[in-house]
Amino acid sequence: MFHPADPALPPFLETLQLARPVLWTRSAADASTVTPGAHLLMDQVLSAQERFARFAPLLAELFPELAETGGVIESPLLPAAAMQAAVGLPPEAGRLWIKADHALPVAGSIKARGGIHEVLEFAESLALSAGLLRAGDDYRKLAGPEARACFGRYQVAVGSTGNLGLSIGVIASALGFRAAVHMSADAKAWKKARLRARGVEVVEHAGDYEKAVAAGRAQVEADPCGYFVDDERSASLFLGYAAAALHLRSQLAQAGVRVDAEHPLFVYLPCGVGGAPGGIAFGLSQLYGPHVHCFFAEPVQSPCFLLRMMAGCGQLPGVPMPPSVYDLGLRNLTEADGLAVPRASELAYAAVGAHLRGVYTVEDDTLHADLARLLDSEGLRIEPSAAAGFSGPRQLCGSDAGRAWLRAQGLEAHLPRATHLAWTTGGLYVPEEEYDRFLSRGRSLVAGT
Ligand SMILES: Cc1ncc(COP(=O)(O)O)c(C=O)c1O
Repeated sequence: MFHPADPALPPFLETLQLARPVLWTRSAADASTVTPGAHLLMDQVLSAQERFARFAPLLAELFPELAETGGVIESPLLPAAAMQAAVGLPPEAGRLWIKADHALPVAGSIKARGGIHEVLEFAESLALSAGLLRAGDDYRKLAGPEARACFGRYQVAVGSTGNLGLSIGVIASALGFRAAVHMSADAKAWKKARLRARGVEVVEHAGDYEKAVAAGRAQVEADPCGYFVDDERSASLFLGYAAAALHLRSQLAQAGVRVDAEHPLFVYLPCGVGGAPGGIAFGLSQLYGPHVHCFFAEPVQSPCFLLRMMAGCGQLPGVPMPPSVYDLGLRNLTEADGLAVPRASELAYAAVGAHLRGVYTVEDDTLHADLARLLDSEGLRIEPSAAAGFSGPRQLCGSDAGRAWLRAQGLEAHLPRATHLAWTTGGLYVPEEEYDRFLSRGRSLVAGT
């Protein structure tokens, strides 16, 4: 355990402990490009993509907003020249793009990818073993009374800071499952209200995200017809997120964006427990190898993945494993509710830790300022968690630590042809008054700079 203001603390840890923004990068000596069993995992990512395709006709029937895409739940890839100017990334440092998961239909956040995938996988396995479905069938059968009666015997539950709960609750209740979402005290009231309005049982817990997950897990273990979607440990969630990499590859190709040694791709992903950004970073690293450089973004109060990376590199001696942000005296309190997680997922760390280039932290004020800049420059409406990606180019190209890392990797000369991709991870369903509050805080910060 580190004690506040310990004079023996290395300067980096002290900055982290004082909740000031930092950029941590992995040195070339620590870097590895191999995750054990990566090729097997990539086969499963392809299977996840095929599962989404099999379910698409059913999803189009269940959700009118998917009629236009034929049941495909995807988000656009957008050029962001105006936001690039607003965040002060000069054109000679590359081009800024946005992967707009804040607009993902059905659940309105990146958590839809994993959450929906896992519930579909569970529904598919139940239907196959009950003889309600055979290989090659039209999955619209699963909207029929027989399948619904079968699903209605099961409870699907999850522990969540909010957005995973929204996606699980919405898809599970649409298929006819009973759905329960265990939420932490810091989960937003509107997210709870939205779930209750869809008939989802919301169980509130006094503690943080970890406590909500543990309570949900324990409750479902006692229910023989219970299925728990485990945000900290689920491979199915991880694979659902990872499938996004395959779609992004076709979007980049369609937009004429090259990714190779002379055209590096930097991707900035808001991180909570690490599953969503981990799955995507894993998929991208399998597709683009050394030419993609993924960074995770965390609130200054909740740098759990950063601590896990440091511990993995032997930089946190004496801290219990796996480390928690509370060990550093941090409080895990932030407006970025989706990222308010004290301890990283070990599954995500094991799968993607070796591929990650670095992690940086962001103050809540900066999240709000970037949220306002994004509305005023590109007209896009996101929640605070989703703004964490925009500090990436600033940290990488505008800080001493970032430039030193770029130089050490031999990437500086390639910056003019680089792509910077900020992943905006949520926001579609934020109510008007809530958003206005974020916006006015952000605008007053921008006006004061
Ligand atoms: C908007 C948003 N962005 C990013 C994340 C991070 O996902 P993960 O917790 O899997 O790291 C979350 C998690 O809930 C989220 O709600």
